[in-house]
Amino acid sequence: MPRQFISHAISTVALIALGALSASAADNAAIKEKAAACAGCHGDNGISQTENIPSLAGQPDQFLQWQLVFFRAGSRKNDQMQPIVEEIGNEDIRSLGAYFSQLAPPKGPEDKDPDLSKKGAQVATGRRCASCHTDTYAGTKAVARLAGQREEYLVKALFDYKAGQRVGGGVAAMADVAYAMSEEEITAVAHYLAHLQ
Ligand code: HEC
Ligand code: HEC
Repeated sequence: MPRQFISHAISTVALIALGALSASAADNAAIKEKAAACAGCHGDNGISQTENIPSLAGQPDQFLQWQLVFFRAGSRKNDQMQPIVEEIGNEDIRSLGAYFSQLAPPKGPEDKDPDLSKKGAQVATGRRCASCHTDTYAGTKAVARLAGQREEYLVKALFDYKAGQRVGGGVAAMADVAYAMSEEEITAVAHYLAHLQ
């Protein structure tokens, strides 16, 4: 093969690689700017420090995307999220999902009531929460991560499903689960899940 051709081929490959690199660097910068608008409520690095606002870090990509779609479609209602989702398109939803899913998940705080956690673990086993949310409660696909999520938000979410205020995805999975739960069970299971690493 002539040398000239080889060096041309090499520089073409290098150019293509560089092009891809700078495009994704630009995408990264754009998505970081978008995500900065979320940090005011959802916290730095997607870890919420605010009551009733969930952490987003480490949630499955698909779960995040679906929730944004549900807010936009109005099937999930929240006064604070409503104006946010009116401003974002499908491309943003894809990149925000990818961005937050790749951040390190929240670590549960120190458990000051291990007895309540024990009770909560029994509830989770009895109601087979892990059969959908996975054994580590990291979630998968359209099923949420629960491990390390804010405790009072988990309680709120379960009561929202129980009351039929949050419908969720196509299958009425969570409505069925939560409807059958007592307040005591909800309190215990939320405490257990919030303290998982
Ligand atoms: C003004 C405060 C505020 C801002 C800014 C905000 N959010 Fe939210 N977000 C909330 C609240 C409050 C909830 C919980 C809603 C509920 O209780 O149902 C929420 C819920 C969510 C959920 C569902 C998470 C879950 O675990 O169910 C996603 C996903 C989400 N927000 C993404 C975003 C993204 C992405 C941005 C930035 C583009 C953003 N939010 C900006 C307040 C905010
Ligand atoms: C049949 C499958 C299934 C089972 C069993 C199940 N879940 Fe879920 N769960 C889901 C799905 C799917 C979602 C996302 C629903 C949506 O889009 O709102 C979800 C969402 C949740 C959320 C909302 C999380 C968030 O960040 O907004 C909580 C809290 C929750 N589940 C707790 C539980 C608990 C506790 C149990 C056991 C008592 C349980 N789930 C059992 C499928 C299941």
